[in-house]
Amino acid sequence: MAAKDIRQVTPEHVAIIMDGNGRWATRRGMPRLYGHRSGARRVREIVKACPDLGVRYLTLYAFSTENWKRSPMEVDGLMTLFRRYIASETQALLDNGVRVRFIGDRTRLDPKLVAMMQELEQTTACNELLHMTIALNYGARDELTRASVRMADAVRAGKLAPQDITDETISGYLDTADLPDPDLVIRTSGENRVSNFLLWQSAYAEYVFTPVLWPDFDAKAFDEILMSFSARERRFGAVAQ
Ligand code: IPE
Ligand code: IPE
Ligand code: MG
Repeated sequence: MAAKDIRQVTPEHVAIIMDGNGRWATRRGMPRLYGHRSGARRVREIVKACPDLGVRYLTLYAFSTENWKRSPMEVDGLMTLFRRYIASETQALLDNGVRVRFIGDRTRLDPKLVAMMQELEQTTACNELLHMTIALNYGARDELTRASVRMADAVRAGKLAPQDITDETISGYLDTADLPDPDLVIRTSGENRVSNFLLWQSAYAEYVFTPVLWPDFDAKAFDEILMSFSARERRFGAVAQ
């Protein structure tokens, strides 16, 4: 079978827990931020690879609601990196037809960063070759909590009847309201956990855990995982045909 034929089922939406930057740097005797900078460079390669691989939605876990527990130096370094990423990548994202969205709680982020995030969302809003979503100060429990509060407000305001709440209603209140559920969730660095990432949305996602550290995760490693996905059988609770 030709390579093209093998890849019969391409995941439309791939979500990635980009883990292992710190260990990658430590193994080289370098500070953790060196790993984060190398990791950011990988993002460009993976984004560029998506359209040819048939991936239309790419969601990247960049900073969790729990990552504030790290040292102020690391947190500040990451926030600076996010600002630099937006400033330096905007043109390339536009050239590559990428629409960018952010999910997560923005209220705790620096207003300057939030303004840059909004501007990037607006300037790329017409693109549709690849829908990239960056999870920044994102936690699935936090997202569900914020959604619940807004649903309760809607009920109190008489705009939502409790008996009308379905799973679609809940999906519509999440940060990912405009996005399809992920088909495949990849975690790099060998950790076998989901660390509060897209808990509701990944109910039927396939998971792949790879030992490769994020700064080493190249387009070839990505393609190999997509190939292994195409060989899986997804049943969604039904019996195999
Ligand atoms: C992932 O790499 C990036 C973020 C969580 C921001 P880590 O920084 O978690 O790297 P390790 O897991 O310590 O190696
Ligand atoms: C998950 O990685 C968060 C991101 C990749 C942004 P962590 O390194 O923060 O997760 P834990 O601490 O190993 O669960
Ligand atoms: Mg980690």
